[in-house]
Amino acid sequence: MTIKISDEETAKQRGFAEKVREINQKLEAPPTAHVHTFGCQQNVSDGEKIKGMLAEMGYGIVGEPDGADVIIFNTCAVRENAEDRVFGNLGALKHEKRRNPNAIIAVCGCMVEQEHITERIKKSFPHVSLVFGTNALYTLPELIYGQLTEHARMFSVPKSDGVIAEGIPLRRESKILASIPIMYGCNNFCSYCIVPYVRGRERSREMNDIVNEAKTAIENGAKELLLLGQNVNSYGKEHGTSFSELLRQINALDGEFRICYMSSHPKDATRELIDTIAECEKVTRHFHLPVQSGSTRVLREMNRKYTREDYLEIVDYIREKIPDAALTSDIIVGFPGETREDFEQTLSLIERVRFDSLYTFIYSRRKGTKAAEMDDPISEEEKGKWFRELLDVQGEIGMNLYEKYVGQTFRVLCTGTGRTGSGTLTGKTPQDVIVDFDGDEALIGSFVDVKIEKALNWALLGKITD
Ligand code: SAH
Ligand code: SF4
Ligand code: F3S
Repeated sequence: MTIKISDEETAKQRGFAEKVREINQKLEAPPTAHVHTFGCQQNVSDGEKIKGMLAEMGYGIVGEPDGADVIIFNTCAVRENAEDRVFGNLGALKHEKRRNPNAIIAVCGCMVEQEHITERIKKSFPHVSLVFGTNALYTLPELIYGQLTEHARMFSVPKSDGVIAEGIPLRRESKILASIPIMYGCNNFCSYCIVPYVRGRERSREMNDIVNEAKTAIENGAKELLLLGQNVNSYGKEHGTSFSELLRQINALDGEFRICYMSSHPKDATRELIDTIAECEKVTRHFHLPVQSGSTRVLREMNRKYTREDYLEIVDYIREKIPDAALTSDIIVGFPGETREDFEQTLSLIERVRFDSLYTFIYSRRKGTKAAEMDDPISEEEKGKWFRELLDVQGEIGMNLYEKYVGQTFRVLCTGTGRTGSGTLTGKTPQDVIVDFDGDEALIGSFVDVKIEKALNWALLGKITD
């Protein structure tokens, strides 16, 4: 069952934060905390909450673990190499604990929702004194208070289908870009994927809570809102509303800003949604629509609930309605039982769609998922070959793709200083394509009209026209 955390519980946590703050104020120097976030935007967003709570407890947030009083690893479990990276970094913290025995070392996030991982931390990483699951995130003040007063190892991974906690203090990473979770968890159980097991059942925030957060972010200067969920297209089902409705409401807010979102699942990318996006001028002209495979047989084994033809139909409808849209996707190579013929179907789909760019992954076996039990006869070496072949095909497609933008003028959100030399700025077109141009740094965080003059492989070069 999904539980919305009550106001009393939130107030109780604020009480613990206050107590920790009082303890910290008695120290000679203000204590510091370091948060290392691995994984996706969802985790980055959780990291902003963790930092917000730590700041409220009186910790100064620092960029390095060395000498910090609290070190938190916010982890990702999506692929084996993500987990290996966490364990590697965690091992290195042993020295830090020796140098600073009072440091609180904590691990949270998706990895610790798996029992075999928590067991491994218990046994092999004795310097870790606190472990908390994704549903215990909002109790961080209570957990830190416990650490400061009881000095015992704590493992808080409550069994739950998932919680929604509102009103947690935030410390945003960026002034310009505001990440706003609109839903948590996932119900899709794609057969390769660990996320539904570690993030619990799909649950949507109330529309009002989201719209109010968007409003506040815009008032505080945000120019891009990133709406987050594992499958934003199924937002609001339990409240009798929809992602289209949410987009319309946010699009209607005052001010010049852009609305981005991720991720969307092709099975829920309806014509109605695409029509809505076409009508909402603030919504990004970029569709990130993970296809995973071009073979209907593999898609069925993956439990994706669409066919190759369904996917192509959606792409054609997007191209018809929003001809200037950019399309990107995720691909998995070497799913158990994928044959050379299946893989060639993926290559031909890529050639047919001509994606602007791709996020490509070699299949990684995740314990507890359905695919982990399937026969997987193709060698890692062979999968590696296919993977490089895929990169080559996409490289060829991506090569001259940006040429089409030369001569056009776009409303560009200026996000920072450029990579192409001093005096240059960088920004994003409505299709999320990076463009560098000359300009004053005072323009960072505002929209400017930029005429594209040249296409590089990774970005565009342009000139401000206003
Ligand atoms: N909810 C998002 C995906 C989150 S995970 C969505 O459905 O779009 C991001 C990407 O990681 C997935 O799209 C998939 O391509 C990849 N991925 C997930 N599990 C994987 C695994 N076990 N092995 C390899 N890649 C995986
Ligand atoms: Fe994983 Fe599929 Fe859910 Fe995405 S939709 S998080 S790939 S189970
Ligand atoms: Fe990783 Fe968890 Fe995101 S497994 S991809 S951090 S939801």
